[in-house]
Formats: sequence, C-alpha cells, structure tokens
Amino acid sequence: MTTATTTTTEAATTATSEATTAETAASTATFTADPATHRVLTGDRPTGLLHLGHYFGTLRNRVRLQNQGVEMFVVIADYQVITDRDIADRLAEHTENLVLDYLAAGLDPDRATIFAHSAVPALNQLLLPFLSLVSVAELNRNPTVKDEIAHSRQSAVNGLMFTYPVHQAADILFCKANLVPVGQDQLPHLEVARTVARRFNERYPHVDGGAVFPAPQALLSDAPLLLGTDGGKMSKSRGNAIPLGATEDETARAIRGARTDADRRIDYDPVNRPEVSGLLLLAALCQDRAPEEIAEEIGDRGAAALKRTVTDSVNEHLRPLRTRRAELATDRGHLRQVLRDGAERANAIADATLDEVRAVMGAI
Ligand code: TRP
Repeated sequence: MTTATTTTTEAATTATSEATTAETAASTATFTADPATHRVLTGDRPTGLLHLGHYFGTLRNRVRLQNQGVEMFVVIADYQVITDRDIADRLAEHTENLVLDYLAAGLDPDRATIFAHSAVPALNQLLLPFLSLVSVAELNRNPTVKDEIAHSRQSAVNGLMFTYPVHQAADILFCKANLVPVGQDQLPHLEVARTVARRFNERYPHVDGGAVFPAPQALLSDAPLLLGTDGGKMSKSRGNAIPLGATEDETARAIRGARTDADRRIDYDPVNRPEVSGLLLLAALCQDRAPEEIAEEIGDRGAAALKRTVTDSVNEHLRPLRTRRAELATDRGHLRQVLRDGAERANAIADATLDEVRAVMGAI
C-alpha cells in the first residue's frame, strides 16, 4: 500500500463569522486514508492543460488515494470557468484534455467517478437551498474570491463569482464527500462547505435527529509550491508552466528559457535564489531526492548544467505518463465515454441526495 504524504488540516481561514473547530483527520505529514471511512472529491476548472504544478501538488495524491481504495470523485468544474470570463472558450476540448491528463496520470475510471458538474442537474439544484444558508456579507468576505476579483480581466464582477464557493459546496456535498484534497487557496471555500453542511443539518434535521451532510475536511498537499519558468508561481494563465502533455523537446525548450542567475555555483537557497532553487526542486521531485543533493552534484558547472539535469529528470519521470497519454489521445470517443459513465454515476447519487434534501425540507 502506498502512503499519501499529505496533511489534513481544518480550513485555516474562516470565511464565516462563526469560527468552527474542525477535527483533523490526521495531524502528521503522513496520511493514510482508511478506505472504508473516506470519500474524496476534488476538481479542476477546464481552462487548459494540466501542468507539473498540478501533478506534484494534487494529481499524484489523488492517484495514491485511489490506489489505497478510497472512493474518488473528480469534478470538472465547467460552470466555474465563467466566473471570471464571459465565455468558456473551447470547453469540450479542455474538458476532454482534463480527462486525458487524469487517465494518463493513473486515475482509473472504473474506480474514480469523473464528471462535469453541468452534466449533473441535481447537484446544481442544491445551490438554491444552500444559498439561503449563507449571508451576502459572508460571500463578500471570502479572501479567495476577493483575490480572484482583483486579478480578473472583466470590467464588472458577475453574480456567479460571488456565489461559486457555495456552488463548490454543492460539488462536495452532493456525494457526501468528507475529504477534499486542495491547495491553500481553496481553504476558504472548504470552510464555506463546512458551514453550509453544519447549518443545513441544524435547520433541517432528519426526523430521528440525524444529519444529512458530513462536514468535509481539507487534505493539504505537503508538496512545496512549484515555481514556473519565470520564477513566479507555476500557472496556466502566466504562460510559465510545463504541461504534462508537452513533448520532450517542448519541455527542453521551456526549461532552457527559464530564468536563473549569474552565480555559477548551484546551491539550494529558496529565499535568495528562488529561480535556481525552483529548478532544483523540480528535479528533486522527479528524482525523489533532496534538492541540496542535486545542487551538490552540479556544483559550479552553472545554470546550463542545471537545466540539462532538470530537463532529463522531468522527461524521464514523465515518460511513462506521456506514453499512456499519447495512446489515450488517439481515442477521443473513449474520453467522452468516461465522462458519460461518470455523469451517470454522479447523477444517481445527486438525485438521491436531492430527494433526501427535499424530504427533510418538507419537499420544497
Ligand atoms: N475551485 C477549484 C479550482 O479552481 C476547482 C473546484 C471546483 C473544486 N469544485 C471543487 C476543488 C470542489 C475541490 C472541490 O481549482
């Protein structure tokens, strides 16, 4: 059995005025899920190709959890795309490419339910009662939403931007997931999901007093933040990312163009030499070794030698994934079938949850 090296934590940022004291599922750096007690939901927006930051940050952990036997749901959050842009550009293509990256990385559609949330009507209907449980002031205070508004290219902020964390609560709660592997930026949203679950349960208990929804917990990756080729956070929208599906030549070119510094001596010093250290970290994650050790080996051979090492490490590490990816890419029909099967399973669960919700609410 593989062990996911992730840490569970309660949401660090409280997006509501009522601070909740979340129990933590594990307090050590090593989290081994008990398959019988965990149901995981995670997701991505279909806006482009997944890159190395996604891979080391969350994708690898999802595959580990799946392989531990944990039930896994992966939502492709298509409605979330139109929170900060007018049109979801090339949506079908981006959605299929996400499936392609997931399968290439090792998610198994027989064990993991992969679906687009627009294909699951009952999930979306949960948004209505859930919105009644959250105040406008709380929506206004969400730090991640505020940050996204600050970076948005839109001249006006739309209503979906303010309410999407509640929609995300529906993504999580429709299948009663209790474990959500996320990055730091998603912690306020997880707190919204916890608040919605708690308030729903208080307001609408079952006749026997039982609760409809579990309180989901965050599972934070302990993979350090991966820097892009410009020294900033690796991100699709910054053009500094190395996509999982890039060719070996494209990978080499991207790394050759990465920013470094003039010091020929290579050492791991994230504070004073972020670009060189970011590259070392990438090689270290690929080789499963310490970045200091790799720095030592390169010594004073300079940035060109460092870049060769990083390129070889990335290309070698990703070779099996990319081989699988290329095979899968020849059959788009299979990718669409995976989405249809996932939507069918997700719909059955969402319908049952919505029936339960309407029953405790007096069939509204
Ligand atoms: N908001 C997440 C992101 O931008 C994607 C997402 C949608 C998600 N629904 C989710 C993540 C539910 C975790 C749980 O990456």
